[in-house]
Amino acid sequence: YLFCLVGTFVAGFDIQGHRGCRGLMPENSFLAFEYALELGVDTIELDTVVTADGVVVVYHDFFLSPERVRENGQFITERVLIKDLTLSRLREYDIGSIAEPEKWPDQLQANGQVIPTLEEVIRMVEAYNTFSEKKVRLNIEIKASPIEPELTVDLRQHVESVMDLVERYGIGEFVIIQSFFWKALKIVDEIDGNVLTAALVSSTNLDKTAWTDGLKLWQFGFDIGKMLASIGVDIVAPSYTIMADGWIQSAHDAGLDIIPWTVNDTSEMERLIELGIDGMITDYPDRLIKLLR
Ligand code: G3P
Ligand code: CA
Repeated sequence: YLFCLVGTFVAGFDIQGHRGCRGLMPENSFLAFEYALELGVDTIELDTVVTADGVVVVYHDFFLSPERVRENGQFITERVLIKDLTLSRLREYDIGSIAEPEKWPDQLQANGQVIPTLEEVIRMVEAYNTFSEKKVRLNIEIKASPIEPELTVDLRQHVESVMDLVERYGIGEFVIIQSFFWKALKIVDEIDGNVLTAALVSSTNLDKTAWTDGLKLWQFGFDIGKMLASIGVDIVAPSYTIMADGWIQSAHDAGLDIIPWTVNDTSEMERLIELGIDGMITDYPDRLIKLLR
């Protein structure tokens, strides 16, 4: 069954807008998600954390940071942990401006952007899908850390809250749940084995923080696909900077898809597509769409 689902899911090529379209709009904002839909992504990638009152919100970091977030028009001066804030307090912050124009020269900056809840984004995509032939999917990342668990709510609570929404909106076939902390994926599997999961792979988590259920890559002859298949995930999601060419074959041999991140350079996009990946996560979905269509 999963083989069929994975095959259908990435029929063609899965164009994933990273944090909506981070190179073009403020990341993880309503503006970014609206624009990603307008551009024509297949999947919206977003990050989630949970507030003090148990609401799943769409934000990349555990903290609101001075250089990233404003309040009453001014950048905040101290870090604030999202886990300690209620949703209504969190809504007082403005995520529309970032202080990295050198990194994102094309990005629009906008005042008055609140942090979305996951439920609001699900409803936005659901509304879009109602009137569209193409069904856009959500790639929902569980932001959690095994080495700093005090920065977040309990992992199971986080995953269950996300899965409650997935079930309530009946969108199981339109989501991927991804995490660097693979234990989250195991919990997803226990709740609903039909929901696709993606193991994020970076140079740091592979050794230390991924949680492999006690398994080691060397036990699988360093075959990443074989190891991840044995853990029960459906998609290998490596940083393209650490992805060895052999990983594509290894994933496919194990019946998994491989969808690297975060590819922004057009020639790098071309190179990876030719190697046979199944999708790509990019801050600039406009560039990838232009290349593919
Ligand atoms: O989707 C993959 C990518 O989002 C993982 O890294 O830090 O951007 O969440 P990060
Ligand atoms: Ca992410």
